[in-house]
Parts: sequence; C-alpha cells; structure tokens
Amino acid sequence: MTTDSNSVSRRGLFGAAGKATVLAGITSGLTAPFRSLGGVAWAADSAPKTLKKWVVAKPVGDDLKLTPAHFKLVEEPMPVPKQGEALIQVILVNIHSGTRNRMKAGRGSTKVGETDDTNYACARVIQSRDKTYKDGDIIACQAGWNTYQTTTSERTRGGPGEFALVDELNGTKSRTSYVFRPVMLKQFKPDVLLDIFGTSGLTAYYGIRECGPIMPRDRVAVAGTTGSVGSMAAQICKLKGAHVIGFGGGPERAKWVTDNFGIQAFDYRDPNLEAKLKAAVPEGFDVYCDGVGGPLSEIIAKQMNRDGRYFSYGESADIYADLQQQHTTTSAKSAEMFGMSDSVAKMIKDKHIKLEAWNQAVWAQDRIEAENIMSEWVNTGRLKPINTVIKGFEKAPDGIISQYDGRNPYGKLQLQFAD
Ligand SMILES: NC(=O)c1ccc[n+]([C@@H]2O[C@H](COP(=O)([O-])OP(=O)(O)OC[C@H]3O[C@@H](n4cnc5c(N)ncnc54)[C@H](OP(=O)(O)O)[C@@H]3O)[C@@H](O)[C@H]2O)c1
Repeated sequence: MTTDSNSVSRRGLFGAAGKATVLAGITSGLTAPFRSLGGVAWAADSAPKTLKKWVVAKPVGDDLKLTPAHFKLVEEPMPVPKQGEALIQVILVNIHSGTRNRMKAGRGSTKVGETDDTNYACARVIQSRDKTYKDGDIIACQAGWNTYQTTTSERTRGGPGEFALVDELNGTKSRTSYVFRPVMLKQFKPDVLLDIFGTSGLTAYYGIRECGPIMPRDRVAVAGTTGSVGSMAAQICKLKGAHVIGFGGGPERAKWVTDNFGIQAFDYRDPNLEAKLKAAVPEGFDVYCDGVGGPLSEIIAKQMNRDGRYFSYGESADIYADLQQQHTTTSAKSAEMFGMSDSVAKMIKDKHIKLEAWNQAVWAQDRIEAENIMSEWVNTGRLKPINTVIKGFEKAPDGIISQYDGRNPYGKLQLQFAD
C-alpha cells in the first residue's frame, strides 16, 4: 500500500481490484500532514485583487439534466472584511447530493447569478476582523464555489446553532464552523478532515454510537455503501466485529464494496435481491443504517429482527430518483423521517425496533470525542477515507455534474481549489 497522496487512486489505497473511477485527481489523503498552517503574505503586492466564482447560469429543469451550460464563471473584486468578518481562501468544498435539487427552477434555493454557498468547506483565514478566527487559521465553515469570500463566526445559516455547548466548543454561532485543532491539522489533509471528520463521517460515527453497542453477533445492513456516509458506517460496523452487508448500484459497484471493505455486498437494483438477502443472512438483520429509503429499505425492514436498531439519516433514493426509474420511489412519508415509507415505519413499530433519526448537527457538542476516536481508527488503518477529490477550480462544474451523469464518484465528492 502506498501513501503517495498525489498519485494514489482508490484502487491503490486499498491494494484491491476496486473500480478505477473515470475522474482525474483522486487522492487517498491518508497520512500526509496539512501543507501549511497559515502565514499568508496577504499584504504583498502579489496578493490577488479579484476572486473567481461559479454561479448558476440557468436553473435546472424538470428533466433534472445538469450540464456545463448551467454554470457561469464570474470574476469579482476581492472583498474587504468588515468588522466581525474574515476574508478566507477556500481550500476544499464538499459537494452534497442535494446540490442539483437546490439549482432547480421554482423550488431550488441557489438562484440564477448566485453560487451555492452552503457547502461544508475547509478554508484558510487570510485577513480577520472576526472575534474567533485569526489570520492563518484553517477553519471549517460553509462556502461557495469560489476561490475567496468573507465569512463570520456569527453566521447562523443552516439552522439554529446557538447552543451554549457548541458556542463554548467552537467559539462560533454555527455547529459546522470552527477552527481545526492543530493536532488534526498535523495528522490529516483537508479532504480527510472534511470526509471522515466532516458531516459524513460524523453522521456514521454518531449513528452507530447511538445504535450501539455494535457487537460481533450483530448482523448489520448498510445502505449506500458506495456513498459518503454509508462507506464510513460499513467500515465502523466491520471494525466493531459485526457481520456487515453492503449495497451498490449495479454488480460492479457491489463488487467495489466487497473488494474495498471485505464484506458481502449486493446490487440494490437486482430484482431477486429479497431472496438473495434472505439466503445470505437467514437469521435476519439486527441493525440497519439507512441513508436511502425507497424499495431497498422496504426489503431490509421486512428482514429485520424484533428489538433491532434502525438508523435513518437520509433519502438518496429520492434524491437520485431520476436515475432509478425502474423503481417506484415511496411517496407516503412519515413526516419527521428521512425518506421512510409508512409501511417501514409500521414494521419498525410492530417489531419494537429502536429508531434513531436526526441530523448529525444535534451531536455537534461531541465533535472532539468523535475526532479523537476516529483519529485512532484512521491511524491504525481500520478506517479509510473514501473520497473523490476533483482538483482545480476550473473543473468545479464538471465535478458537480459527475455526481449525476452516471460517472458516480465513490464516497464523498470534493472540489479542491487551493493547497
Ligand atoms: N442526517 C444527517 O445528519 C445527514 C448527514 C449527511 C447526509 N445525510 C443524508 O444522507 C443521504 C446520503 O448522503 P450521502 O452523502 O452518503 O450520499 P451519497 O454520497 O450521494 O451516496 C448515496 C448512496 O446511495 C445509494 N443510492 C442511490 N440511490 C439509491 C436507491 N434508489 N436505492 C438504494 N441506494 C441508493 C448510492 O449507491 P450507488 O451510487 O452505488 O448507486 C450511494 O451509495 C442524503 O439524503 C443526505 O442528505 C444526512
């Protein structure tokens, strides 16, 4: 196994015959320390006078087709931070599967002429007039598809984050905005900080903790195992010694799961899935990590044991519905749950299954615990980042499109704009 972060594909990272993705610029990001902890000579004459930004050129239509014509590159004067703000250089942004839906005509939140500034991001503080951020800090925050922007630790967008514990921990008004600890920066590159220690890894960590303890006798189904949260959840359940079953969209992606995690995996589109699962796990499932909803969750819920644990955190089946035309996605939803049909909700109730369904932000006060425990798992080789990094600001639109046009990157899709 090599750790050369500039040349290692996911295949090399795991030393297994995993599918080589069509995207360029994939990095492993395992043990290389952060390149720089700041010290940016911003006052120098060479400092850029403008920033680059991708904005929505036209909204996404009902056909959900996303093309380069939906993006436009603009150049703007470099903003000067006001009192309470910091100018930041955006290093890397995570792309959420809901990005395309946010660009939709009528109901999308990212309007024409705007960038999507809700991406969980890693950034370098260039010039600060903010009470928490200092020049040179490397921070987690929300950022747009732009090279530079201003931000503030007082930013509350994304939900009420003004909880006393989080404020005390982060010194900010947001649960996803904080200065990375030096110990994290010394160990991990930005892509790993935003993957394993970002919202994907943290969702998996808290979900399994709350459905725990996961025991070697447990039989665990993990949906979305090729995706960002599921790939973390499957590894964590495996390292706890459980019998884990994974899923991928098609035989090749299911094989990728087996090759990379050493677990049995199935094609969730297989018409004989129900029978195959029953044959593979006749004892039934004790735990289900469900980030997808839809038909797969119907099948697994039927095969769950009484007194099991069910972690519901997302609804990929609906988000990617246009790619799943052979399935009828569930329309009747229980209000508070992610993509869960009423029939699944009934099975959960009837079988006395413990349900965990929340946004990971509710556990933000436990971030240091999660970072410390998962750092050890990463450093002992038991937890590996699964991310697809697209390097280069100019490649941002194509990177975003790749999530929806069938190229389908494994794990967390990330755009890297700077080192
Ligand atoms: N509650 C929280 O705090 C929290 C945090 C993070 C994410 N989420 C939510 O969790 C969900 C998953 O997020 P993610 O970042 O892991 O997504 P992702 O990286 O895009 O992965 C999606 C996964 O779902 C699979 N999938 C797609 N359509 C499916 C279908 N019809 N049936 C079964 N599986 C299907 C994909 O498999 P293939 O690609 O192999 O087809 C892939 O493994 C999203 O709804 C997201 O909003 C919630």
